[in-house]
Amino acid sequence: MKYPCLISPKDRAEEIRKLLMEKKLLLKNIRIKRDENYVYFPIKEKIKIKGCETGEEEFKKFEVKSYNDILREKGIKIDSISIDFIGEIAIIKLKDCENVEDVAHAIMEANRHIKTVCIDRGVKDDYRIRDIKIVAGEENTETIHTEYGVKMKMDISKVYFSPRLAEERMRIAKQVGNKDIVIDMFAGIAPFGLIIAKYAKPEKIYAIDKNPYAIKYARDNVRINKMEDIIEVKEGDAEKIIQKLPYANHIIMNLPHKSFYFLPYAIRRGKIIHYYEILEKNRIDDRVKDIKNLAEKENYEAEIKDVRIVGSYSPSKLKFGIDIEIKN
Ligand SMILES: C[S@@+](CC[C@H](N)C(=O)[O-])C[C@H]1O[C@@H](n2cnc3c(N)ncnc32)[C@H](O)[C@@H]1O
Repeated sequence: MKYPCLISPKDRAEEIRKLLMEKKLLLKNIRIKRDENYVYFPIKEKIKIKGCETGEEEFKKFEVKSYNDILREKGIKIDSISIDFIGEIAIIKLKDCENVEDVAHAIMEANRHIKTVCIDRGVKDDYRIRDIKIVAGEENTETIHTEYGVKMKMDISKVYFSPRLAEERMRIAKQVGNKDIVIDMFAGIAPFGLIIAKYAKPEKIYAIDKNPYAIKYARDNVRINKMEDIIEVKEGDAEKIIQKLPYANHIIMNLPHKSFYFLPYAIRRGKIIHYYEILEKNRIDDRVKDIKNLAEKENYEAEIKDVRIVGSYSPSKLKFGIDIEIKN
């Protein structure tokens, strides 16, 4: 059957898909089509988007079943589940469930692009790597994830990555000005740097990490996305490396269990610090005071530009994002 469609260049498909979802224009139960260069989205009504064409195309319908529908049909009930989709891998956290394999297969059936399902048994050590176990599908932990049209390659058993920070990365990219210098002190596979390089016009981004696997994938990602002129990946301890880097307009500190220890190094080296920390819900006001006192001890003034909840961590703890402007 024919439907109106929006034709997006392949490299903008993720951004356009999210936009159409936001505007509730994407038709449900109709299979999106692709060719070598373009992605064809079936839409309810025509919309003008710069760089995209509209038209009419033949599309196929399909029956959509969620993993919950599939499990219900099998008589399986799950109390609480969280799922992260990273490329072709789904990572699940389940509370007291005896039917892990059924759940995993239901997820693969409902999400045809998913080839492997793992359970997440928690993040560990300084490298913040998830302790995972494959429960269904291919024995593979390497994948390529696409975020806002940027390709991010990684092995989820060797590096930290969270797709839940996509909006946070875009939020920061929008604050980066032309010719700015950016330092990501705890860059992992460099997702913040990649998004900033794609959506802002910085002079240079320095992406530091001490996990050799994160460095390998960060370098692969810079190459895959052709950002060699903008992003420089640096292996080692951020505490030491940052001291040798130029003064930065933005410093990103996503090491939420330990960031306060590293904050003096950022205060000395940058103007706006995007700081993340996991704290007890009622500790945030005290932490803001700690940050101001720390800046004063370093002979600076800290102005808090924004405090927000980025995610929940445990029943009593939250992950906070704090934007700090350092003044002389
Ligand atoms: C929570 S992850 C964040 C990764 C990335 N920014 C992201 O959002 O996906 C923290 C990263 O900091 C790295 N790390 C921990 N301590 C470090 C240090 N002292 N110097 C540099 N990197 C460090 C870990 O290897 C890990 O990749």
